[in-house]
Amino acid sequence: MSRAPLPLAADERLIFALDVPGRAQALEWIDRLGDSVRFYKIGMELLASGEYFQVLDDLALQGKKAFVDLKFFDIPATVAGVVRGLGRWPVHYCTIHGWHPAMMQAAAEANAGSDMRLLAVTVLTSMDGQDLRSMGISGEPEEIVVERARAAQAAGIDGVIASGLEAGPIRRATGAGFSIVCPGIRPGGPAGDDQKRSVGVARAFADGADAIVVGRPIRQAADPRAAAEAIQAEILTAITK
Ligand code: C5P
Repeated sequence: MSRAPLPLAADERLIFALDVPGRAQALEWIDRLGDSVRFYKIGMELLASGEYFQVLDDLALQGKKAFVDLKFFDIPATVAGVVRGLGRWPVHYCTIHGWHPAMMQAAAEANAGSDMRLLAVTVLTSMDGQDLRSMGISGEPEEIVVERARAAQAAGIDGVIASGLEAGPIRRATGAGFSIVCPGIRPGGPAGDDQKRSVGVARAFADGADAIVVGRPIRQAADPRAAAEAIQAEILTAITK
């Protein structure tokens, strides 16, 4: 069964994507953003540095929450093994792909003894309907995302990663206790980059997101800390409405 959502303070609903090549840069960002960010997502780029688990410990030492975004997808026994192992680290969210019910069920069972919440990736926010068709998947993203969210919930996964565009339909399909985390957030509107299903901050929360993942809009801002603070202010307004 899906666990209750991770308890999140208002300022833990912004998750910064620490897409950097190594620990030195990760520590610089954690320092630069200070109190404006309390939850960090570490993914594949950092994994390749060999310093991934040191950064996990750094985050824990600094009292930050950590999201391991490595999007596991393999046979059920292998995914169960990595989930079981990661549950022993200071990890709050961890992603697996939301494609294969038996794999999701094995992962959920392997995670039963840990506080880490598993999130299933539905359809990457960099993909649109045409991308799905080119992969042999018929149906529009919203339909596929909702179908995968229902399958994830039935398999005992704690929540999903999806675009804010689909947060409303997912919330209606899965109810209040299922976590929805939305990347592809573009506070200033579409940025013409690789994200195709992007929304703004307020829309994601109005439609039922628990948290958002933001990378480049903060990393590439002239003043990243001010950008993060502005997003935090927008989140606070959105969730206290
Ligand atoms: O820079 P940007 O804000 O686009 O970063 C989004 C982050 O969220 C990236 O680290 C990307 O890997 C991640 N992500 C995503 N779409 C998903 C799952 C994760 O963009 N469906």
